[in-house]
Amino acid sequence: MKPDFYPPGPSSISSIGAYLKLFQDPLSFLMQASRKYGDICCMRLGARQDYLINHPELIKQVILSPEIYERSTSRALRKIMGKGLLTADLESHSQQKRCLQPAFQKQGMLEYSSTICTMVEQFNHTLEEQETIDVAKAMNHLALEIVVRTLLGVEMSRQEEQIIEAIETIKCLTDQKKSAFIDPLLSKLPLPQSIAYQKACQCLDQKVYEIIQKKREQPLQGCDLVTTLLKAMDIQDCPFLSDQLVRDEVMTMFMAGHETVASAMTWTWYLLSQNHEVEKHFHAELDEILGEGPIQAEHVAKLPYTRKILLESMRIYPPVWLIVRHPLVDTQLGGYTIPAGSYVHLCQYTMHRDPRYFPDPEKFDPERWTPEAVAKRPKFSYFPFGGGKRQCIGEAFAMTEGIIVLASLGRKWVLRQVSKDPIRLDPLITLRPRNGLRMGLKKRSGKVTDEFLPRV
Ligand code: HEM
Repeated sequence: MKPDFYPPGPSSISSIGAYLKLFQDPLSFLMQASRKYGDICCMRLGARQDYLINHPELIKQVILSPEIYERSTSRALRKIMGKGLLTADLESHSQQKRCLQPAFQKQGMLEYSSTICTMVEQFNHTLEEQETIDVAKAMNHLALEIVVRTLLGVEMSRQEEQIIEAIETIKCLTDQKKSAFIDPLLSKLPLPQSIAYQKACQCLDQKVYEIIQKKREQPLQGCDLVTTLLKAMDIQDCPFLSDQLVRDEVMTMFMAGHETVASAMTWTWYLLSQNHEVEKHFHAELDEILGEGPIQAEHVAKLPYTRKILLESMRIYPPVWLIVRHPLVDTQLGGYTIPAGSYVHLCQYTMHRDPRYFPDPEKFDPERWTPEAVAKRPKFSYFPFGGGKRQCIGEAFAMTEGIIVLASLGRKWVLRQVSKDPIRLDPLITLRPRNGLRMGLKKRSGKVTDEFLPRV
């Protein structure tokens, strides 16, 4: 249905330019549009209609109505994740989430936390004084290792390495937008990328099915993801679960559960390096709580300032910076008719920088996260993990992992950017620094100055 009148936005003619900008530089375009056109903005090009929603109450209405607003997922995601939770239809989604939830509850989180502590401490020992690292790359690799080890619940170094390599190949090929090989027809051509992609997918499938098989041969113990799903399969009320779906859920968690956390970590190191007062406060908390011994799962709840730092970092640089929904039917929002099939954009990047809710929005200020300050803001002014039925299942996992990584590395190292060039943002599926983020490492006991430039 064609609406009688549209929300403010660029005219049909200037929409061509607007669409070009949306695809070329989406962050600046969306920031400008949200400030210029207000709470709801519309852009049209031919039959396509895009809406940018820029008010917490309207965002809430969209997010909390998954039966009207369907999640938009790309073919690339569906190809690798199959019918896992992220790409599942609404009908099967609730059942799937119910089966998966135990893997993310208290007992599971306790088990994961101690594994994460050990892995991060090991990673810490591989780092060297004066070393320069690409923090984005290092955090990505660490987060991937963590999600694979914890969710599979197995420690098999060679197998783990192969899984990680395969995921990195898939990510690299899809990120470089060489996605022609995902096209059903083109993927049949023997292009080098198609071959590498198919090989990586086959390797992943084979490893995951092997793990499922191995677990089946023993009594099911533990709270990891695979065990949780296999236990659910034995219970009568999950007859829809199959080996194929277990595989899809595992792939989904691998994909959804590493780059997001890595993005949050990367930006936090960057922001800390730019905000020395916050960094001092952070160090003081770590020194007081952690003492000399290795970091442990119990420490996580005792580091409130570190938690606030992480929340504030995801405000300024939300790892998932945009959620897109398609209305299944014509619907009303903010006094306008939103036609079925249009694109409804909920943008964390713009909402989190809205001065109505976050005065001086560019300022990195963890004190925005005191319980009193949070209570004064509307809920969907901040939504790094989405909301409602389709809220991120990995939120607690991500927060726990983030705090452990920050605490373990932060108590030993200070990180400083090597180059003074401004960082450019790369808004892909997650928000990343374009060309990585090179930082130098300095032991905390030494004197740290802004001029510190490490040996390359
Ligand atoms: C800082 C880290 C993370 C951020 C910012 C994040 C963000 C999000 C967001 C915004 C959504 C909702 C998307 C939408 O509504 O369309 C989502 C969903 C999801 N996330 Fe995360 N995520 C993070 C970490 C994780 C981790 C660690 C896992 C798993 C181990 C995970 C697994 C998922 C899954 C399976 C969904 C789909 C949930 C559903 O449809 O019910 N995420 N995430």
